[in-house]
Amino acid sequence: MKELTITTPIIEATLDELSAEDRALVEEARRQTATSYAPYRRFHVGAAIRLDNGEIVAGSNQENAAFPSGLCAERTAAFYAHARYPEAKFETIAIAAVGTDGLELRDPIAPCGACRQSLLEYETLATHDVRVILTARDRVFILPSVRSTLPLAFSEF
Ligand code: THU
Repeated sequence: MKELTITTPIIEATLDELSAEDRALVEEARRQTATSYAPYRRFHVGAAIRLDNGEIVAGSNQENAAFPSGLCAERTAAFYAHARYPEAKFETIAIAAVGTDGLELRDPIAPCGACRQSLLEYETLATHDVRVILTARDRVFILPSVRSTLPLAFSEF
């Protein structure tokens, strides 16, 4: 018997430490929180994905009275990105959230498990790591890959 340890490397940075490209992605994710349809939870999430064709595709959470029928921001953005540009590979995703108090979260927003699993599939398609930027009010967490957000992910391969 032996113990195995899985570690998740995270870079914590302030916004002004980001490249202009990453800052633009974070700003787009933040802007997208305003397009969220969240009358039930009043928790507004925005996601922006930069593709290797230079396009940025963004989305927000969309809720529904028939509760499980809604969708998180990350999957709204990811599914649309691949539907719109099926040949393009994901490069980086940024996620931002505004809580019920109307303010951006104090701590970086973390995607739910289902979104991590969905994003992982696009990382596999990309055949390279897809960086993940989790945004808070005054700082971000940068993860090197989707895989690093979902240890022991399901895979048939
Ligand atoms: N939500 C997201 O958009 N992304 C996540 O990763 C977790 C949760 C949404 C779903 C729901 O509309 C609201 O945030 C609160 O759960």
